[in-house]
Amino acid sequence: MSSLSVKHLLGIKYLNADDIELIFKTADSFKEVINRPIKRVPTLRDTTIVNLFFENSTRTRISFELAEKRLSADIVNFSASSSSVSKGETLIDTVNNILAMKVDMVVMRHPAPGAGVFLSKHIEASIVNAGDGTHEHPTQALLDAFSIREKLGGLKGKKICIVGDIRHSRVALSNIFCLKKMGAEVMLVGPPTLMPTYIESLGVKVEYNLKRALEWCDVANVLRIQLERQDIKYFPSLREYALYFGINKPLLDSLKKEIVIMHPGPINRGVEITSEVADSNHSIILDQVENGLAIRMAVLYLLSGRKEN
Ligand code: CP
Repeated sequence: MSSLSVKHLLGIKYLNADDIELIFKTADSFKEVINRPIKRVPTLRDTTIVNLFFENSTRTRISFELAEKRLSADIVNFSASSSSVSKGETLIDTVNNILAMKVDMVVMRHPAPGAGVFLSKHIEASIVNAGDGTHEHPTQALLDAFSIREKLGGLKGKKICIVGDIRHSRVALSNIFCLKKMGAEVMLVGPPTLMPTYIESLGVKVEYNLKRALEWCDVANVLRIQLERQDIKYFPSLREYALYFGINKPLLDSLKKEIVIMHPGPINRGVEITSEVADSNHSIILDQVENGLAIRMAVLYLLSGRKEN
């Protein structure tokens, strides 16, 4: 298989295992490219990509922009706060005005779940979802799974635990879809108030005791507490959250085995994970960031439909 089964990357839900394998194999090649002295390839020369960010981002935005530059694409950066969105312009009008300037691809982060799916029904250009509210963050899940594959040699049969604020996490949902499609086992652990009631229907295990979950898994992917999406209190205090669901060194030392620690960032140090763990050699957090660049280059290249490399 040399092309994706989809025109857009709106969510992992819409990909099949062959698509994910193709993205990984393409990312393997691009990872080699980004570690060369000359990191730029002409693959997307004369392709124009707009990065539409309606919500804050550090990693995803820089990673997409760098991926586009490494592929020699022309880039337009759009930030909602300094645009005519603040004057009441709709999403479709905003995007159609940008596309009228002959833009080929759209990378979009938006606070509304389904914003990318909605847009895909109204425009011709390929869309990459860079995170839509509490729904999906497909390139994050791809880079997470790629990092596990790199560290453990594969995904099939591996036991991955996703820790924390499952309810508000687009990373959790995309990770569940991606890991299950690639044959991994998934367990979720967190406070009951942050666990959606439907979640077991996705074929995952649910646990409420952090130590039991860590004893089970090969990898723990630790999520940020998304206070900005919590309109009510889901736990009494951050101190109590850290006490029951925070990952710290004594807890890891008490396990009968070593596990790999991941975090999509940004980290609330001392809440969901201590600095000692985040910066330890259990952690592959910065490998995830490096792999994000290769994954995003692969996604943009495959969606562009270009054949040369
Ligand atoms: N992981 C992630 O999406 O980080 P940003 O919000 O900084 O892009």
